[in-house]
Amino acid sequence: MTDDNPRQLSLFASPYLRFIVTLLVVLGCLLLNPTHSAQATSSLTTVYEQRTIHSSNGIGKYYMGREIAQVMGHTGAGWLERPSREAEEQPSKIVSVLNLKPDDVVADIGAGTGYLSFRVAPLLTKGKVLAVDIQPEMLEIIEFFKQEKHISNVEPILASMTNPNLPDASVDLAVMVDAYHELEYPQEVMQGIVKALKPGGKVVLVEYRGENPFIMIKRLHKMTQKQVRQEMQAVGLVWRETKNLLPQQHLMVFEKQV
Ligand SMILES: C[S@@+](CC[C@H](N)C(=O)[O-])C[C@H]1O[C@@H](n2cnc3c(N)ncnc32)[C@H](O)[C@@H]1O
Repeated sequence: MTDDNPRQLSLFASPYLRFIVTLLVVLGCLLLNPTHSAQATSSLTTVYEQRTIHSSNGIGKYYMGREIAQVMGHTGAGWLERPSREAEEQPSKIVSVLNLKPDDVVADIGAGTGYLSFRVAPLLTKGKVLAVDIQPEMLEIIEFFKQEKHISNVEPILASMTNPNLPDASVDLAVMVDAYHELEYPQEVMQGIVKALKPGGKVVLVEYRGENPFIMIKRLHKMTQKQVRQEMQAVGLVWRETKNLLPQQHLMVFEKQV
């Protein structure tokens, strides 16, 4: 093998120069490589963690130590409307503690088929329900039920994964039944909800009790009170009370500070 660049050879012959050049090359690569810089920045700022080993019911994405559950697809609509749900979840009790006023605007976030929306809407004689979901197929079912049940004050709203798409300061109460645990971007969605609440507006979360191992619901589809309170506090919501009037779920009330 011939050497056609003796100068470079003579430079690298010095261990001191070799060290300096190597150091400069490494530093240059670190500074000029945008991918590396972006990764470094996002790992400093993101609130989520992705893990490769995780539950088969989850998406491998963790928020404040909790794995986020998979979204229930629209093909599960029949399960949401199952007749036994009335006894299992007692939705009339949920409605009775919401302290609704006739002119309230209520956002049902993750409305699905509108299971709660259509129970709330008749009480809002001068108000309305904004039924928010990311699946257009769920919103089509809501449109179908609007005609079927002759209820006009339910407005379907198509959300994105990160934004409930609600107007600012327009909502008195945001309710989420069996939905929060499957939000892929819980912090962004909750920030959007807080923005959409009027001052003093409330958030009611209904989730299967994660503390109770005898509640036969998949672990990621249940939540503990401690976890919910931690996640709501992260977006500035203040816990007001937890009502244990439902057979298997917590009903937790939070308030936006004035
Ligand atoms: C298990 S279902 C519950 C539906 C309804 N709340 C009920 O109790 O029958 C959860 C719903 O949340 C919706 N969802 C998931 N992520 C969402 C998001 N980021 N924004 C709005 N809806 C979402 C899903 O599409 C699904 O329809």
